[in-house]
Amino acid sequence: METRVKNVVSSLETGFDDVRMVGIKGMGGGGKTTLARAVFNHISTLFEGKSFVENVREVSKGSLFGLKELQKKVLSDVLNDQSIVEKGISNLENMMKTMMRSRKVLVVLDDVDDVEQLEALAGELTWFKPGSRIIITTRDQQVLVAHEVKCIHHVNLLSYEEAICLFSRYAFKTEIPKQGYENLSRKVVRYADGLPLTIKVLGSHLCGRNELEWADAIERLKTIPLDKTLKRLELSYNGLENDQKEIFLDVICILKGEEKDISIRILESCGFNAQIGLRVLEQKSL
Ligand SMILES: Nc1ncnc2c1ncn2[C@@H]1O[C@H](COP(=O)(O)OP(=O)(O)O)[C@@H](O)[C@H]1O
Ligand SMILES: [Mg+2]
Repeated sequence: METRVKNVVSSLETGFDDVRMVGIKGMGGGGKTTLARAVFNHISTLFEGKSFVENVREVSKGSLFGLKELQKKVLSDVLNDQSIVEKGISNLENMMKTMMRSRKVLVVLDDVDDVEQLEALAGELTWFKPGSRIIITTRDQQVLVAHEVKCIHHVNLLSYEEAICLFSRYAFKTEIPKQGYENLSRKVVRYADGLPLTIKVLGSHLCGRNELEWADAIERLKTIPLDKTLKRLELSYNGLENDQKEIFLDVICILKGEEKDISIRILESCGFNAQIGLRVLEQKSL
């Protein structure tokens, strides 16, 4: 992680007085937001104004005024003026163009999936005061290319050693697998294939469970072809509520193959709103 942060920070070359946009590209659950946040925390004090805009894709599509809300958020963050959020502003784009130039800013646009979002939030380099930096994360490199972002970092999957370490942190609260669980851990980590989200989720899920439960979960995981199902699942997984995430896991790991009615009963006995949860999962074609 530290190397990744360093690489992005050094490509930003904050000492130079030009305006720069840098992209971070990677799959869902791969660690883009985490990386962008770490970079932001690392260097934000070097700027006069800053804004970290999360979930651009989701918010901009969430309502008719989604993009306008995001424009207001950037302006109010950068100018440190909360009242902008409540104001009705007729020409937000104009305001972005004129007001953003007043400060050297650091802006992160997280999870962008359409060039329209970039046009609204960071349309041209000339919008910004010299020295400003814009970081954009996306699953879709094409968006970066279309917006002429030249410097693009690829978030690679974790190495086996990194993966084991991350998994152990969640499953055992230590850096290496607990004695007796080495083999089981290896199997789970191989399955997760270096994707941080999957590793974290499976680690938390298996934490505190006994060897039999582990073996059982691994058997069930084996029946799910990872690339076809799980990687696609990760994309939709991010959009689930926490409660639903738990259900999702129980469903894929533990209850796979059981009758749906039985699954619902078991989940409800654990205190979940299982009917709704399962419906959401079905709708998201999990
Ligand atoms: N290098 C890492 N080390 C530890 N945890 C990580 C790392 N990268 C990502 N994670 C965890 O994996 C999950 C998914 O990461 P996230 O940054 O949200 O991915 P993305 O934004 O690419 O979908 C998060 O819960 C995050 O805490
Ligand atoms: Mg993200």
